Amino acid sequence: MGEIIPYGKQNITEEDITAVIEILRSDYLTQGPKIKEFEEAFAKYVGSKYAVAVANGTAALHLCTLALGVKPGDKVITTPITFAASANCVRYCGGEVVFADIDLETYLLDIYAVRKLLESSPKETYQGIIPVDFAGRAVDMEAFRALADEYGCWIIEDSCHAPGGFFIDSKGYKQNCGNGNFSDLAIFSFHPVKHIASGEGGMITTNSKELYQKLLLLRTHGIVKSNDFFLNTIEFAGGINGYPLWYMEMQDLGFNYRLTDFQAALGLSQLKRADEGLSRRREIASFYNKSFQGKPFIKGQSGVVEGHAYHLYVIEVEGRLDLYNYLREYQIFAQIHYFPTHLMPYYRQFGWNQGDMPYSENYYKHCLSLPMYPTLTLEEQKFVINQIFSFYEG
Ligand SMILES: Cc1ncc(COP(=O)(O)O)c(C=O)c1O
Repeated sequence: MGEIIPYGKQNITEEDITAVIEILRSDYLTQGPKIKEFEEAFAKYVGSKYAVAVANGTAALHLCTLALGVKPGDKVITTPITFAASANCVRYCGGEVVFADIDLETYLLDIYAVRKLLESSPKETYQGIIPVDFAGRAVDMEAFRALADEYGCWIIEDSCHAPGGFFIDSKGYKQNCGNGNFSDLAIFSFHPVKHIASGEGGMITTNSKELYQKLLLLRTHGIVKSNDFFLNTIEFAGGINGYPLWYMEMQDLGFNYRLTDFQAALGLSQLKRADEGLSRRREIASFYNKSFQGKPFIKGQSGVVEGHAYHLYVIEVEGRLDLYNYLREYQIFAQIHYFPTHLMPYYRQFGWNQGDMPYSENYYKHCLSLPMYPTLTLEEQKFVINQIFSFYEG
């Protein structure tokens, strides 16, 4: 086994390449017809009414906090066990990030910790909650919606790890991550290690027409092109009967967060294989689960969970650093997800410190993400498992 086995890897097929080349030969490089097609197909896939394609997952988060009107002084709750962008989007708008600890078993933002925060301050202290479907495990958004409603908070669901993930609601219905039934907005990333890759890329999903329209505006500089919505008069824009056709109107402070048409073509082509990739991820997870059963050196693991999208397969072990280094000797590049965000120097300047989030910090000491991607072969997976066994059992 000379090849590197990473923790995650994209899968580009000839079909994907053809789809991109087709666009390169067409009239559109940036926003063209593939954007709309990708948005519609993605909305259908997750079951939301609307979808807005954007440059990346971080841009998606930023547009969400802008659309929800986050401003200096606003307080927003999120988990420390996520990629920093889940928290940073609040800071982009000058808001304050308040971390709450994770649940020991699911590794997700602990709803009881969030409730405790909300209950311990006067109502309206907090404006929003950003739960993350970490590793691909679906947050119980129904429960979070009920809590958020009690305290007048909005919800952004960070579903970057979980396209195709779901939970079962209290009525027994399947609720897809990012379907917008409980969150105000949800976001996805199409970074290469994610389920669907478009190079860079992201998507926002929602069931709110009002938020959808705001997002479209903010994605392109806050510029309106249709004369149905202009605020300036015809005369003001230098026209007489009807607006001059060149006229566009900037009504809000937006950004250029557009996705390109060839990226959308790649994303769309990848989306067609999303279910296939997801079932392969679940197969891999189930083989890890079976292999680790009864092994005392594996303390915790992603386990068998209905609706888990398995972006990551996480185990918790003692001697994590030594195991990590040992695996690297065999070209197995496991990874750590994540160093808790509240302990990043940027957030420590706001007073966050060691001991603030004991479960997250303890999780960080033991966690290890094992190779998990659709093209990981059974032979490679057995090799990974055997190296872990040989490290602990000799
Ligand atoms: C949970 C989570 N949120 C947000 C992001 C940001 O996405 P992107 O890298 O596309 O900006 C990522 C991915 O990197 C992520 O894993």
